Amino acid sequence: MKNIKIAPSILSANFAKMGEEVRSLEQNGADIVHCDVMDGVFVNNITFGIKMVEDIRKVTKLPLDCHLMIVHPEKYVERFAKAGADIITVHYEACQENLKEVLELIQSTGVKCGAVINPDTPVEKIKDVIPLCDMVLVMSVFPGFGGQKFIPSALDKLREIRAIIDGLDKEIDLEIDGGVTSENVAEIKAAGANVIVAGSAVFKAQDRAEIIKALKA
Ligand code: DX5
Ligand code: ZN
Repeated sequence: MKNIKIAPSILSANFAKMGEEVRSLEQNGADIVHCDVMDGVFVNNITFGIKMVEDIRKVTKLPLDCHLMIVHPEKYVERFAKAGADIITVHYEACQENLKEVLELIQSTGVKCGAVINPDTPVEKIKDVIPLCDMVLVMSVFPGFGGQKFIPSALDKLREIRAIIDGLDKEIDLEIDGGVTSENVAEIKAAGANVIVAGSAVFKAQDRAEIIKALKA
């Protein structure tokens, strides 16, 4: 089985104490910090942008996984890269026929790139760009908010993408995002995901070390 990495989403953190929150993730065994960037246009919510990533970069050594839920991500890719992102993922729904170009732009900045699909977008739409990606992200909720319920059809997509990735001669991570809990994580991993985003599950837990360990086990 693949090496499982846990990527807590700071969408569920206390934004007024972000430095402490990120340090606590690192101390409690997180592997990646998942940064949900929302613009109020691509999704119906607004979070934070480049400056937050820049400031988080200063308080942790963990890789920063920047999930851009914004229109025209190509306009901001270079600045997120400069701010310290380790990986930038962009939505098929935001880039459409320019997805390949945007992924190449991300790579040209020296940062890893990933493609994301919403629950109602078929794998088919990103099939051609998977070999280009360092990561593929399957949304198991409609993006915008933490604390939503996992949409089970994401499991079929994970299996479909895992089969594609396993047929390629490249290390590509397969990430799941939305509604992950300690109850459903086993089937998610069995379906082929190796990077597990968890927002409310981690931040609502009494003991962050324990939940991160449980999600990983
Ligand atoms: C949803 C975000 C997710 C979200 C996950 O738009 O992309 O990363 O924070 O939160 P949970 O784990 O609570 O579903
Ligand atoms: Zn996310």
